[in-house]
Amino acid sequence: MIGLFDRISRPFLRALDPEDAHALAVKALRYMPLAKAPADSAALGVRAFGLEFPNPVGLAAGFDKNAQVPDALLRLGFGFVEVGTITPRAQAGNPKPRLFRLEADEGIINRLGFNSEGAAAAHMRLAARRGAGGIVGVNIGANRDTHDRVADYVQLIETFALVASYFTINVSSPNTPGLRDLQQARALDDLLARVFDARERVRLRAGLTPVLLKIAPDLTLPELDDVVGVARKRSVDGMIVGNTTISRPTAMRDHEKAHEQGGLSGRPLFKLATRMLAETFVRAEGAFPLVGVGGIDSGATAIAKIKAGATLLQLYSGMVYRGISVMTEIKSDLTAALKRGHRNSLASMVGSDAAAITAESWPG
Ligand SMILES: Cc1cc2nc3c(=O)[nH]c(=O)nc-3n(C[C@H](O)[C@H](O)[C@H](O)COP(=O)(O)O)c2cc1C
Repeated sequence: MIGLFDRISRPFLRALDPEDAHALAVKALRYMPLAKAPADSAALGVRAFGLEFPNPVGLAAGFDKNAQVPDALLRLGFGFVEVGTITPRAQAGNPKPRLFRLEADEGIINRLGFNSEGAAAAHMRLAARRGAGGIVGVNIGANRDTHDRVADYVQLIETFALVASYFTINVSSPNTPGLRDLQQARALDDLLARVFDARERVRLRAGLTPVLLKIAPDLTLPELDDVVGVARKRSVDGMIVGNTTISRPTAMRDHEKAHEQGGLSGRPLFKLATRMLAETFVRAEGAFPLVGVGGIDSGATAIAKIKAGATLLQLYSGMVYRGISVMTEIKSDLTAALKRGHRNSLASMVGSDAAAITAESWPG
């Protein structure tokens, strides 16, 4: 089913303007009858921040920004789906064009700037699916023109606590001016304190929804020291490493598009994101689990992320270039790797290469 969907849709989608192709893919998922993917083998199951994931392969934020199709994506076999980034009020985002495919590099540059239908629309959809099961995380961010960014996060925690399996605090998108300043130690400490206060206020109604922090791969190592220090002090439930990069690796081939402003994702991000993951793993010292994101497009890249420190995985760009079947392939490659190693879970692989990776020269 997935293979057929990919074969029919991909050449067609690739011929379209990237944003039109994305809108069409979401529409197809909304209206196509989808058979449920076969159940995952028990060995792929992951327990993290109090949730039981059927498999570790999640869909990263940005694909389903407005929570239109989480159930279709779960049916296809993703272990979890992260919707958003959702902002309190609807906003249009940056002027088009703002999404670019770098075909030769299998990368994407986006400067969408949190185009969002706003909290009310997304909340209505998530409330309608409440009790449907499956892990649906809600990624939250501030409106571009807000007067108080932290208040935006607080409001979203209060709004979505009943319908979110977990929250992701997105302070790492490069396309909202000033947003990434929230990663500075004092600002982050204040943000997390107020987010956790908000969670506490809705605890009686909603329970303790896990809160994850999603960071940029562009932090310096001293900045990462601070971020992990604050995250540990405030007892975040996990970190997502990471978002798109504003850097441009030297080996990129599509020089023209590489100059477009925005965040780079996909294959060219893999090395930097994996290095930052390993750096985060050695600093977190097991205080919380990590979600590895950035350039995963095969079983091999998924296994490398796990060995660098990821308990869970997310991908987006790999799906654009390889189709949804990349997720199925990754799951079967992970199962095969477990069998080969006579292991009954992925847990013992997590972070096994992290220390060695941090000793390598910095990826250029
Ligand atoms: C078109 C596009 C839109 C994105 N939008 C968001 C977003 O709204 N919020 C967010 O946290 N990350 C967003 N991301 C970042 C992804 O969630 C992910 O962190 C990044 O793309 C690296 O993973 P990948 O190489 O598998 O794509 C977006 C990525 C792309 C390509």
